[in-house]
Amino acid sequence: FIEIIVANNAGFCGGVKRAVDLAFKNADEGVYSYGELVHNQVVTKELSDKSVMSIDNTDVKNSKVIIRSHGVKKQILDELRQNGNEIIDCVCPKVTKIYSIVREHYEQGYQVVIFGDENHPEVIGINSYADDKGIIIGQDLSLNKIEDKKTILVSQTTNIPEKFEILVNSLKNILNNEIIVYNTICNATRLRQESTIELAKKVEAMIVLGGKNSSNTKKLYEVAKKHCENVYLLESIKDLKYNIKNFVKIGITAGASTPRSVIEEAVSSMENFDNNEMMEAIENSFKRI
Ligand code: F3S
Repeated sequence: FIEIIVANNAGFCGGVKRAVDLAFKNADEGVYSYGELVHNQVVTKELSDKSVMSIDNTDVKNSKVIIRSHGVKKQILDELRQNGNEIIDCVCPKVTKIYSIVREHYEQGYQVVIFGDENHPEVIGINSYADDKGIIIGQDLSLNKIEDKKTILVSQTTNIPEKFEILVNSLKNILNNEIIVYNTICNATRLRQESTIELAKKVEAMIVLGGKNSSNTKKLYEVAKKHCENVYLLESIKDLKYNIKNFVKIGITAGASTPRSVIEEAVSSMENFDNNEMMEAIENSFKRI
């Protein structure tokens, strides 16, 4: 039989749990959600089942608007407030903390450097607290936009700590001016990555459960891949189209926005697998990044 091991620290982090609890407490007809509350389709569907409508503009007036866990641009928040809306602030407090750090130093004339994905809403939100003037450094760690002036560095909460350290050292090498480093990678992210690595080393295959747009889930895939050859990124176990029958030890991990129900469903359906049962291999429909 297949042995299934679930990683420690898989699934909902404190920030997502808080956001989901708060959103569902306020979920009702006439309540809106700015973008997806968390990057997970199961949660999004449950909220829409409660009549919460998702919006991507600030036209709504005099209503309740849920602000997603990974934040929005400051201007969007300001406009929603100006339109008389009540804000249900589901932004993770760890992200809000980065807003304050960035704003304070930006106002003091620091060059704001953000390590993260320039297209991710969390990074776009953080940069808005530097009036969109921050320099965003992606995974290629390219420093060509950096000026030699006093600098503050923060990170998207879901980054890989080792990469952040490499960036810190590179910046220190090229800057003659002061550099203040805030390692704002969230502890929940770090713990999920560490547990994933630990498990990936012990198993023949790893299943990473999480939303397609979830940054922290993609990072879990990335770190697992370094230690395990067979890693599959799935939104749900129903997406598994690969014959995993040949593996006897399989690990499961899940991003910070993946509900427990998705993990439980994966475990229970795989526990029904039997080495003697052949699942059809549909190699080209793997959900690999
Ligand atoms: Fe917040 Fe960290 Fe979760 S930033 S949303 S506690 S991954």
